[in-house]
Amino acid sequence: MAMTATLQGALVKRKGKTILGPVTCDLLPEGITIVLGPNGAGKTTLLKVLHGVERLTEGTVRWNVSDEEAHTSQAYVFQSPIMLRRSVRQNLAYPLQLIRASKADIVRQTSHWAQRIGLADALDRPATRLSGGEKQKLALGRALIRKPKVLFLDEPCANLDGRATREIENVLQEAYRTGTRIIMTTHDLGQAKRLASDVIFLLKGQVHEQLPGSLFFDNPQTSEARAFLQGDIVE
Ligand SMILES: Nc1ncnc2c1ncn2[C@@H]1O[C@H](COP(=O)(O)OP(=O)(O)OP(=O)(O)O)[C@@H](O)[C@H]1O
Ligand SMILES: [Mg+2]
Repeated sequence: MAMTATLQGALVKRKGKTILGPVTCDLLPEGITIVLGPNGAGKTTLLKVLHGVERLTEGTVRWNVSDEEAHTSQAYVFQSPIMLRRSVRQNLAYPLQLIRASKADIVRQTSHWAQRIGLADALDRPATRLSGGEKQKLALGRALIRKPKVLFLDEPCANLDGRATREIENVLQEAYRTGTRIIMTTHDLGQAKRLASDVIFLLKGQVHEQLPGSLFFDNPQTSEARAFLQGDIVE
């Protein structure tokens, strides 16, 4: 079953300041959702609210499955992924060990995913010594190895060069084609265009526009979105 979520008046206040909301919107049941907006717009907060790791001050977030199923079927990749101080192989195996997968399964999945993320030759290297791009790919493999139904990514390609970015996009598109729902933020508009099925454009904690990707990029509905797409400062 496709997983969807509904936000009803979702609002996050920290230190007396509203940093998100109120947001009322539905997530589409499938596709790649790109969350766009200037620094501080609330993108990371929205992802965390959807993943259930950011406390709401008001309102609700509801997935169409139980809270427990929602949580176990989702994965979240942070902007600066934290690596275990172990080998690439052990980092990939770790999520499977947590769910007590069989040894044979772990061996099979680990080499499969090392291949998919282009780190097959690096399996025995310490993960902490990988380059930034390699770490991002490893974090992505580690998130996908449990076949999440929903994958959240917070700027997965920040600071990566064009090649590493494309490699990550390829893995994401493959995951999407095989049924993973993706919700991610990026400041790279080229990447947003390449990947978006739909766009949520946030401004000052509010959903300013929510449109199919093709419409948003060709025909944004508001002057703020137009300015944002032109690279102007939007406040
Ligand atoms: N724990 C907190 N306490 C107080 N303010 C916070 C807290 N977390 C986030 N904020 C503020 O909330 C606003 C939204 O933050 P958020 O990280 O969601 O923005 P963002 O759109 O992801 O920005 P960026 O593009 O820089 O990553 C910002 O103004 C931030 O400073
Ligand atoms: Mg952020």
